[in-house]
Amino acid sequence: MSIDVEQLLQTISKQIEQAMDLYLPKEGTHPSILYEAMRYSVFAGGKRLRPALLLLTTKACRGSQSDALRAACGLEFIHTYSLIHDDLPAMDNDDFRRGRPTNHIVFGEANAILAGDALLTHAFSVIASGDLAAEKKVRLIQEVAQASGALGMVAGQAADLLAENSVIDVDQLAFIHQHKTGDLLRASVRMGAIVAGATEDTLDVLTKYAEALGLAFQIHDDILDVVGDPVALGKQTGMDESLQKATWPSVFGLEASRQQVSKLTDFALSCLASLEPSEAFAELRALATWLVNRNH
Ligand code: IPE
Ligand code: IPE
Ligand code: MG
Ligand code: MG
Ligand code: MG
Repeated sequence: MSIDVEQLLQTISKQIEQAMDLYLPKEGTHPSILYEAMRYSVFAGGKRLRPALLLLTTKACRGSQSDALRAACGLEFIHTYSLIHDDLPAMDNDDFRRGRPTNHIVFGEANAILAGDALLTHAFSVIASGDLAAEKKVRLIQEVAQASGALGMVAGQAADLLAENSVIDVDQLAFIHQHKTGDLLRASVRMGAIVAGATEDTLDVLTKYAEALGLAFQIHDDILDVVGDPVALGKQTGMDESLQKATWPSVFGLEASRQQVSKLTDFALSCLASLEPSEAFAELRALATWLVNRNH
């Protein structure tokens, strides 16, 4: 049976967007510019990949989707905060994101910083609420805090900035990619498995799948910055070169980058192949393949 991943992501997006709307403070609330700025970036579209990975992993491990919803929204809030801050003049200085002017262009830098701060902290409140068992919630919070904080995404972003205009080796480049992007994708999959109460063995295998997929995803993002279509992507291209970013294509060239993406994807798929029952993991397999062929 072939799986229509675009359709699958659309269905998940609808479900997630409804839930995020419910969990976010309403726009009219004082001070309304804050909630407007948060909602502007959250509801600008995006693939909703992190929630999709979480929900599909929960489903594959026979867990309940409604148990997973808060964690999925929390991840998308944190991801959206990371994009708002990544686009700031002090970081990548980007004007377009998700097909619209970036948050700081519309709301000003101070409000963009605050909207990001608010999305990050609100995510923890959303994950900590609801009626999942307290032990599970603590584990989920630990996963996402580790992945997004000082030893995770923020470390990757700091290393990414340090590496601008400098020559780095493959280990340093892998460090940047694994942390700035891979850690949150890894957490998405692990949190899905934790919600479902998966065994430690299954969790280990899924972690390997997610790590390979996360690195492949960021290498593909680097490739799209060179060869992608800005309209399809909803963000400008050529920015990495103009900032002299350390990217996979800048260090290894496009062809070797593509080969690396395909090698990592094969490895991710081989991890899933060891899990039973095989049909339960079909959507996660299809998603891994789709991600590295995507044009947006
Ligand atoms: C963009 O992430 C930033 C990276 C980590 C590469 P996505 O490509 O998932 O962005 P959206 O959520 O679809 O906008
Ligand atoms: C961003 O990486 C990673 C995070 C936002 C954490 P990039 O800087 O490559 O992402 P894009 O290309 O701006 O989406
Ligand atoms: Mg960046
Ligand atoms: Mg950027
Ligand atoms: Mg990029």
